[in-house]
Amino acid sequence: MKAPQTPRELSWMPIFNPIEKQFRAPRERLSARLEAVLEEVGRCDWLVDLCADHARLSIAAVARGQARRALAIDLHQAPLVQARRHLRDANLLERVLLLRGDGLAVLRPAKRGERTLVIAGVGGDLAAQLLERSRDAANADRIVIQPERHAREARAWMRANGFHLASERLVAEGRRLHLILRFERARGIDPSYGAHPLEAELQLGPRLLLSSEPTARAWLAREHARLKKLAGKRADLEPARALLELLFRR
Ligand SMILES: C[S@@+](CC[C@H](N)C(=O)[O-])C[C@H]1O[C@@H](n2cnc3c(N)ncnc32)[C@H](O)[C@@H]1O
Repeated sequence: MKAPQTPRELSWMPIFNPIEKQFRAPRERLSARLEAVLEEVGRCDWLVDLCADHARLSIAAVARGQARRALAIDLHQAPLVQARRHLRDANLLERVLLLRGDGLAVLRPAKRGERTLVIAGVGGDLAAQLLERSRDAANADRIVIQPERHAREARAWMRANGFHLASERLVAEGRRLHLILRFERARGIDPSYGAHPLEAELQLGPRLLLSSEPTARAWLAREHARLKKLAGKRADLEPARALLELLFRR
């Protein structure tokens, strides 16, 4: 007899679409954070979803026709086993490849522009390390990073490796604010930087610093409060703290 499904599995039940005569993954299943990440992904041929966990993002991208195919990579077996179940239910086993591996080492080097890469839900420092270790495999034209912390390391790596910061946005989930960064491969100096001291821009986000969006202002206010507590203790954070002092004095 089939084991009873948990509520979580039920939320992944596919929907049968009588017009297209196929199962479709339900649209509403992504969190606001992952919805926003997927918006930044846009349309692509191959989506590489590194640190994919249950591959929710890959499955939604392919089910919605945003990506033709996806590669979902995770270090651990258990989330990929779960992902496989979701894929089977959504009838997408042939379009989302699940790979177990450490970073991008499991991939062959890509041709330029062949892939869009997403790294969501991990530290920006880990994202930068994984990119650094596999430069050829990361040969994407668009990279979307959703750093849970240490966004500075992600911005700095991308800036030093031929990517411009194309979008920097925040998404609220309850009291949490999630940062989403989209980078595009481009030549020359990134025009996003230069309005403020570089170290402060890397730490706080050059676009967020210029934004009048309420979420950006809330994010900077939180950073201001955090950095004030660290005054005198972290020399590396001093440029960011000094800039926020100026901005919030006005
Ligand atoms: C918090 S989950 C994020 C899942 C998903 N990307 C999201 O945003 O909801 C982080 C995932 O990264 C995976 N991970 C951590 N280090 C990794 C590495 N070196 N290579 C591949 N995956 C890794 C973990 O196993 C975990 O499933």
